[in-house]
Amino acid sequence: MIIHLAREAGFCFGVERAIDMVQAARDRHPHRPIDILNEIVHNRHVIDDFARQDVQSVHSVEESRDGIFVISAHGVSPEIVKQANGRGLEVLDVTCPLVTKIHRTADRLVRRGYEVLLLGDEGHDEVEGVLGVAPEHIHRIRHPDEAATLPDWDQVALVSQTTQGMSEFDQMERALKQRFPHLEVHNTICHATEQRQEAIAELAALAEAVVVVGSANSANARRLRDIASEMGRPAWLIEDERGLDPAWVAGRAVVGVSAGASTPDKLIRGVLARLEEWGGTLTPLPGQDLGRIRPELALAGPSQQEC
Ligand code: F3S
Repeated sequence: MIIHLAREAGFCFGVERAIDMVQAARDRHPHRPIDILNEIVHNRHVIDDFARQDVQSVHSVEESRDGIFVISAHGVSPEIVKQANGRGLEVLDVTCPLVTKIHRTADRLVRRGYEVLLLGDEGHDEVEGVLGVAPEHIHRIRHPDEAATLPDWDQVALVSQTTQGMSEFDQMERALKQRFPHLEVHNTICHATEQRQEAIAELAALAEAVVVVGSANSANARRLRDIASEMGRPAWLIEDERGLDPAWVAGRAVVGVSAGASTPDKLIRGVLARLEEWGGTLTPLPGQDLGRIRPELALAGPSQQEC
């Protein structure tokens, strides 16, 4: 059995940055309470690793201990920041800069008189944060059918949660343009999401089955699993190697592995190792460098060739 890893899988820069910032705060202040609003990133292992260092997840400003209050990579509404400042907490904002960009874009559009439609998942932290920028003028939308039910607004703009599917965004844009021909469009799906979606489409075209490593509440990981399913491949989303079932890969010649943007490399390695125990051989895609995951499979780079 050949195992392929998607060309883009695992931590994106926003997740890495958020984890590094919180870890740096813990290292600088080993005894100070540090609490994170909701989940720093949607991955159980990352949250548990921090909990072992007494970096806890809380669900509100009131629940937080006196100390450092962390705003997660998904961002929050300005109201939450105000509450935290009002309580005198030291706010550490690790919001991904690409999420902050959506807040700024939505705010600018509302100030120019637009009603802003946000393509996003109900209840997702990032979506709640963006809606909170201007609750009366930013509206969540999920299905193209909803376009027909919207009021007759004069100026309408479309933005997106960073981790939505590219094809869903295109469908939404088409539906809304029927209703609002002058729709202003800002595709704010982030580059990391786009790259991972393209990579899993490449993988699903080659593999007979696909495993995505990530937490069930990770929007981008779920989307990767869905893309593989929509391409007709059996696809599963698992937290780590313990979620694998030998029956999924039995008799398959090629199995693909991918991972969400908040999945640590050690979990990807664990899944690959389990599949290898079951007879798989990790094989690079053409031109793929697996060095980050498996140093022994690294392509020789220019500097190594020079040596
Ligand atoms: Fe940022 Fe995109 Fe990652 S918004 S946190 S780079 S998935």
